[in-house]
Amino acid sequence: MTFQLAQQETNSKAELYAHLQSQLQSLLEGEHDFIANAANFSALLYHSLPDVNWAGFYLLKEGELVLGPFQGKPACVRIEIGKGVCGTAAQEQQTIIVENVHEFPGHIACDSASNSEIVVPFIKEGELLGVLDLDSPSPARFDEADAEGLNELVKVFMELTTLE
Ligand code: SME
Repeated sequence: MTFQLAQQETNSKAELYAHLQSQLQSLLEGEHDFIANAANFSALLYHSLPDVNWAGFYLLKEGELVLGPFQGKPACVRIEIGKGVCGTAAQEQQTIIVENVHEFPGHIACDSASNSEIVVPFIKEGELLGVLDLDSPSPARFDEADAEGLNELVKVFMELTTLE
């Protein structure tokens, strides 16, 4: 199978995320395997969203977040709940947008190029399963439009994937 990443000119983040949603649906269609789908989801985000240097998953395992499929430089493997941006988003079960990671108390630096970050928890039936994390070298790269778009993509991912 060859999957063409559409290089579409878009006027807004909302349009970009709507386009990514249909791409994600085609990419995951007919496949339920968690690792395969999470790997392709992270590759789609990394190669389609501008100005992103890391995109991937941390999964809740035995009470802590453990690195899952991702694109970008090698990253820290385990994050305690409540620590860093990922652990805070997991604890609060809320999307967190960080305009300047250097000002976030306890931020865990994996790639020194990162300056801003967004973390979206994924929750099924009230239970936290993990988080989706994106980093950017640009300050204030992520905003509410990214939060909305990424939350919609996470919903599609959870509908089409068997979660363990
Ligand atoms: N910066 C994150 C750690 C993960 S890396 O960015 C890939 C944090 O503070 O939780």
